[in-house]
Amino acid sequence: MITTEQLQKDFSSGLSTFLSNYPESNLFGPIRYLLSLGGKRIRPLLALSVSNAEGATSEDAMPASLAVEFFHNFTLMHDDIMDNAPLRRGKVTVHEKYSKNAAILSGDALFTAAYQALELANPEHLPQLLRLLNKTSMEVCEGQQLDLDYESLGDVTQEMYLEMIRLKTSVLLAASCSMGAICAGADDERVQLWYEFGEKLGLAFQLQDDYLDTFGLEKSTGKKVGGDILADKKTFLHIHSSAVKELPSASGLSDDDKIDLIKTAMKDRGSDLAAKNKMTAYSENARKALELLDLDSSLNTWFEELLFSVTQRVS
Ligand code: IPE
Ligand code: IPE
Ligand code: MG
Ligand code: MG
Ligand code: MG
Repeated sequence: MITTEQLQKDFSSGLSTFLSNYPESNLFGPIRYLLSLGGKRIRPLLALSVSNAEGATSEDAMPASLAVEFFHNFTLMHDDIMDNAPLRRGKVTVHEKYSKNAAILSGDALFTAAYQALELANPEHLPQLLRLLNKTSMEVCEGQQLDLDYESLGDVTQEMYLEMIRLKTSVLLAASCSMGAICAGADDERVQLWYEFGEKLGLAFQLQDDYLDTFGLEKSTGKKVGGDILADKKTFLHIHSSAVKELPSASGLSDDDKIDLIKTAMKDRGSDLAAKNKMTAYSENARKALELLDLDSSLNTWFEELLFSVTQRVS
């Protein structure tokens, strides 16, 4: 198995080459800004590593890995407007730095860039890749809509929450894995097994994202802590703590005081630990899904370590 560092290097170099096709302009400025802030780049890492595990090279999976990272960054530009987020990757969000209109339009251009990157895939694999990216894209929109709807809905259950995060987050991690497998010419059964691994990993990933939004540190996450509390997001933490006892009213409080009050209430109710346990359960499901792929032991270890790093992540 190639090292993670090598895969990340391959991706950075594919990204620079691809971006050099676009002009220096007001449309592409915000795109270059957001992409230059990096992020963890877990989706392209998944596409490249799965392709590698299935016997292909980084070059074979580069169009798909660029597509998933562009698509992801497009969702972030729009998500930050929707969530009223001031910070992303430790820097000012695109809509705050440029304007809301710039974030909408450059987001649209990034969405298009995802498809332009995919144009370069092996023509034999293109129909399957397109079908999967289209399905994923629509599901992410469905998930984001539910995320918004639930802000003003009182009785969101754990099942509703899990389906919402499956749609808004986990399908893209799953598609990243499957697209890597498709680029390597893997058969349908393996493409599906990789999907299931990515889906479980994605659920653990979003549970940890929700945990960090409340209990993480701004200097590690690069996001404003407590954003989910202020937006009344129905996260696992919210649902768990409300089920124990109604959360205290924070009306009339400043943002910081509201965050402190709700955070303390969540901790008192053991919701931080419950979220960690749920996240660990999903990462265990992902480990079981990985077993079904029956990889060589060094490959299996590499993916288990990736899984471990998702459960331990602070950023
Ligand atoms: C943030 O994704 C949005 C979610 C789906 C949770 P990441 O945590 O992968 O963000 P970056 O790309 O590393 O910044
Ligand atoms: C984001 O979920 C999911 C998508 C961008 C599709 P969040 O709203 O929780 O992501 P962050 O916390 O802003 O990164
Ligand atoms: Mg959001
Ligand atoms: Mg957000
Ligand atoms: Mg979040």
